[in-house]
This record gives sequence, structure tokens and C-alpha cells, in this order.
Amino acid sequence: MDTLTLKTDELTIEKDQINKIGLDNEKSRELANHLNNLLANYSVFYQNVRGYHWNVQGDHFFTLHEKFEELYDDLFEKIDEIAERVLTLGFHPDHNFTKYLGISEIPESHEVKNGSKAVEEILSAFKAILQKQRTILNLSDLADDEGTNALMSDYITEQEKLVWMYTSFLKEPEI
Ligand SMILES: [Fe+2]
Repeated sequence: MDTLTLKTDELTIEKDQINKIGLDNEKSRELANHLNNLLANYSVFYQNVRGYHWNVQGDHFFTLHEKFEELYDDLFEKIDEIAERVLTLGFHPDHNFTKYLGISEIPESHEVKNGSKAVEEILSAFKAILQKQRTILNLSDLADDEGTNALMSDYITEQEKLVWMYTSFLKEPEI
């Protein structure tokens, strides 16, 4: 009888370790923490890019003003997807800028008017989020979390291409 009770307890414990979408709870918690950190970085990055869009001046104004709008629209969509992935995993996305600024590796930018400087800051932000996304990609692999894995994989592919394009913008053309 005692053995039976013990077995039932073990089953209960095991059941609690799996969340509503069938993933290990602890691994999901770790992923949600990393996603919240990514969310903080995206949120600061998003607001920085709005500033580049507003403040950029000079020869490339029309091109960059439009490109930066394209970029912040895309970041805005991804911010929502990241936050909703945290919820899907069973946790809560952070939504306060105080929290974001406390953990974001991407710093706030301050009134950047020079287009090349804005692009340099964008490239450095991409470098930071690409590294974070690769870490999450590896963790989601280990957790069998296909949803997070697919999201990170898409972001990485898209943003690596953007890095190439923004880098080309900064280069002097070879003659
Ligand atoms: Fe605008």
C-alpha cells in the first residue's frame, strides 16, 4: 500500500514538471527568462530606431528615414511575438521600461543625427540580439521547444541579411 502511494506521488510530481503545452516546466522557465531579456533588448532597440528615424539628417535623409521606419515596424511586430511566446510558455512578459533598461545590453541612444552613426548603432544592436537569439535557439533545441526554435531561426536568418545590407551601406564603393 505504501509503495502504491509513493508511486502515485511520483506520478504527480512528474505531471507537474510538464506544462500545458507538454514542455518541461523548468526548461520553459529558463527560456522565458531569456526571452524576457531579449524583449528588453528589442524594446530599447525599437525606441532607439524611432529616434534615428526622427532625427537623421543629411544626404541620405529620404532613404534612411524610410529604412528606419521599416526596421522599427519589424521590431514592433517581433516584440509582440516574443512577449506572446513568453505567455505561451506559461510565464509573464516584462513591460516596464525601468526593468528593460536595467537588463538591456543595448544602451539607449541619444539624438543621433548622423546616418552612418545610426547605422553603426543598429549593427551593434543586431550583433547583440543575434547572439542572444542563438543562445535561445540552442536552449529551445534542448527543451524540444519547436515554437521558440522556429521563431529564433526566422529572426536570425532575416537579421543576418539585414546586417549584410546595413554593412554595405557603410562601405565606400570599390572603383
Ligand atoms: Fe514617421
